[in-house]
Amino acid sequence: MTEKKFDPRHIHKLNDPKRLETIPPDVLWGLADLKAPEVMVDIGAGTGFFAVPFADKVKGGKVYACDTVDLMIAYMENNLPEAYNGRIIPVKSSETKIPLPDELSDLVYMINLHHELEHPKALLAEARRLLRPGAKMMIVDWKPEKTPEGPPLSIRIPPSEVVEQMTAVGLESGRAPDRLPWHYIVIGRNQ
Ligand SMILES: C[S@@+](CC[C@H](N)C(=O)[O-])C[C@H]1O[C@@H](n2cnc3c(N)ncnc32)[C@H](O)[C@@H]1O
Repeated sequence: MTEKKFDPRHIHKLNDPKRLETIPPDVLWGLADLKAPEVMVDIGAGTGFFAVPFADKVKGGKVYACDTVDLMIAYMENNLPEAYNGRIIPVKSSETKIPLPDELSDLVYMINLHHELEHPKALLAEARRLLRPGAKMMIVDWKPEKTPEGPPLSIRIPPSEVVEQMTAVGLESGRAPDRLPWHYIVIGRNQ
């Protein structure tokens, strides 16, 4: 594990309900502005903390919840409420590969992951592979400024760099309106 990576010993922090105050899923959902979505992919899903509210948004829909760490996959398999069986599907992925078919999803999202990536462009290209035509990618990560919580400033990535990376993998992308106190949101659309 490199220094950038989330330390799985702090897994309980991911489930702190206070996180919903600074990253309200409804705000993300509104900005994603999807038309009749069915399938979503959460990359770096951790405990599935955000996969749950996203799954709730789509009746009969599915969220593939990907993570590189076995502990996170096991956590989701053992702790997600039974009602989410078959609706949130934990998937063990690797740093730049996600074992899911092309053009599977209406939305690929990543929350508090981007600053941890070893090869951001390669992962974004892989994430793009999973998007249907017209589908969206949403990246939510820490603003590169002092915030009461969050990773060291030295490893935070400015949103302009995320926009460039999304554009480089072929998405029409831009920064979404600034609605969160500590995080920015970048959204890209697959043409
Ligand atoms: C800070 S946690 C955020 C978890 C979740 N998105 C949330 O906000 O509750 C980052 C997660 O991304 C996972 N991760 C790190 N690199 C990854 C990669 N290349 N692909 C998928 N998951 C990754 C880590 O194991 C960790 O569970």
